[in-house]
Amino acid sequence: MSDFALEVIGLHKNFGALEVAHNIDFTLKRGARHALIGPNGAGKTTFINLITGALAPSSGQIILNGQDITGLGEAERSRCGLARTFQINQLFRGLTVLENVVLAIAERQGIASSMFRPLSSYSEVTDEAMDLLGNFELDEDALRRIDELPYGRQRLVEIVIALGQRPSVLLLDEPAAGIPSSESQHILDAASALSSDITVLIIEHDMEIVFSVADYITVLVSGAVLTEGIAADERVRAVYLGEVDRG
Ligand SMILES: Nc1ncnc2c1ncn2[C@@H]1O[C@H](COP(=O)(O)OP(=O)(O)O)[C@@H](O)[C@H]1O
Ligand SMILES: [Mg+2]
Repeated sequence: MSDFALEVIGLHKNFGALEVAHNIDFTLKRGARHALIGPNGAGKTTFINLITGALAPSSGQIILNGQDITGLGEAERSRCGLARTFQINQLFRGLTVLENVVLAIAERQGIASSMFRPLSSYSEVTDEAMDLLGNFELDEDALRRIDELPYGRQRLVEIVIALGQRPSVLLLDEPAAGIPSSESQHILDAASALSSDITVLIIEHDMEIVFSVADYITVLVSGAVLTEGIAADERVRAVYLGEVDRG
């Protein structure tokens, strides 16, 4: 198998006259913790939307685990092992934490549409959901409704839901956005604790989080890759901390 979990080749996307992805070549090494940074409006979320299939590129190719997925829809890409969280949270707010995670797992197993019994009667799915929640110390919140949780914990649930799809590649779009910096540590811990079987691309403005989580950094500006480098390199840190607008 290739060293790369994800390869993006010559990706272009226009919104009318605005070129929001300009000839992006990008690789995600298997097992990487890779950060994508850049000012607001740089095209980071659009890039994720192109990878997941939420948007179609004008041209270019996307290869997931050696398979060309450019022609596949979002659901198919998800079945191929691609999962993402959203910058704006999209949980079922009136359902419990557990129900949200159970639904994600059931979706992966293709049984969501045949669930006539109460969700709680599917014990294997429930067990798996509780295990995942336990890994993030969310088990005590399992029976609470999403809208009863503090925002920081809601954002953690989003990550758990994405993991419920058993992804090989996880795309995190500003997982700590909207969270007080005192709580963003929890998100950081969650991202750091993910299994090394999962390759992670994280969009993040908080450079402390970037440097504590990421081993590699790509800087996107105006839809193009400005530069890339190894996060541990002091010179890289100085350049990124000094020059990149935190938006
Ligand atoms: N659906 C859309 N139609 C037109 N323009 C869009 C659309 N989505 C995003 N844009 C524009 O594309 C640019 C990149 O947006 P985005 O990917 O959200 O940036 P980032 O996530 O880096 O802040 C912005 O100028 C934004 O206004
Ligand atoms: Mg964005």
